[in-house]
Amino acid sequence: MTRIYNLSAGPATLPVEVLEQVQKDLVEYQDAGMSVMEMSHRSKAFQAIMDDAEALMRQLLSVPENYQVLFLQGGASLQFAMVPMNLKKSGKVAYVDTGSWSTKAIKEARVLGLDVDVISSSKDANYTFIPEIEADYSQYDYVHITSNNTIVGTEYQEFPDTGYTPLVADFSSNFMSGPIDVSKFGIIYAGAQKNLGPAGVTVVIIRDDLIGLNEGLSTMLDYKTHADKGSMFNTPPTFAIYVVQLVLKWLEEQGGLSGIAEKNKAKATLLYDYLDQSDLFKSPVRKDSRSLMNVPFITGDADLDAKFIAYATEKGFANIKGHRSVGGMRASIYNAFPHQGVVELVKLMREFEEENK
Ligand SMILES: Cc1ncc(COP(=O)(O)O)c(C=O)c1O
Repeated sequence: MTRIYNLSAGPATLPVEVLEQVQKDLVEYQDAGMSVMEMSHRSKAFQAIMDDAEALMRQLLSVPENYQVLFLQGGASLQFAMVPMNLKKSGKVAYVDTGSWSTKAIKEARVLGLDVDVISSSKDANYTFIPEIEADYSQYDYVHITSNNTIVGTEYQEFPDTGYTPLVADFSSNFMSGPIDVSKFGIIYAGAQKNLGPAGVTVVIIRDDLIGLNEGLSTMLDYKTHADKGSMFNTPPTFAIYVVQLVLKWLEEQGGLSGIAEKNKAKATLLYDYLDQSDLFKSPVRKDSRSLMNVPFITGDADLDAKFIAYATEKGFANIKGHRSVGGMRASIYNAFPHQGVVELVKLMREFEEENK
């Protein structure tokens, strides 16, 4: 078996231990006589998986009692629409624009006819930092932020205090990478395919009082439908949820969220420390806004970037090319990306720098 270092931004590296467990369970799950993929979502065996996934998530994140944990489909992209549909009251909402995922979320709110105020943006600086916000939050139905910006590699270090106005956060690319105070948020949502499991399931953590605010929504687009039925109104993505459950168990073994946060910090620090002293590579992101999950870097010369990408790919580092919209390189080093992989990446970058002085 040759597993290479996969720096993909998502779907992304999963823990090897989880993949091995999946392999063991694949043909026959425990003593069920069938695989998880083949069993009814109404079966006892699957219900136990679902219950355990929810319980583990609640425990790891210390989710307060007055929040529901939902396992939905449609990706974080569907949440861009479900959030405004479900949360609108006056129709006036606030968004912070920190990159193309925020822009997509803003677009969906506008498509639904909401009056969107972009209360802060770092667009003029190519989104290279998380901007300060000055706003009167009380006039808005909710405030939406993107907690980690996968493409440009920025991450909130502190969250705005929006008072009684619900704070909604797209956590897709840093969910479960460290502890969060869930009680500061009205809704947290995240596609699983970066830090939590395979593509196909989206986690929504929503405060009870935000469920059922609007009547007349399409059944599947109403949080109430899913909250009332324990994410079992229709067939949930059973296999993806099962893998999420295994990833959550793995996270527990890593010392929970504070344990994984330390490991993530150590990995990212290795890479940023190298970038900050390198004469060849640099991070385009302002120091106070740097993501621990997605680390973009550039040489400043597109040809040299391309040469490095080819060099790294040949040496077994896959998916190191930056997003097509920004170019350069990007190392996505989510929870399951091994520390040794970062050590070896830095070594490789040093060698390349030496050879291309
Ligand atoms: C921050 C962020 N939000 C939203 C999305 C879209 O997620 P999905 O593909 O699950 O709809 C992504 C995907 O990469 C993302 O990184």
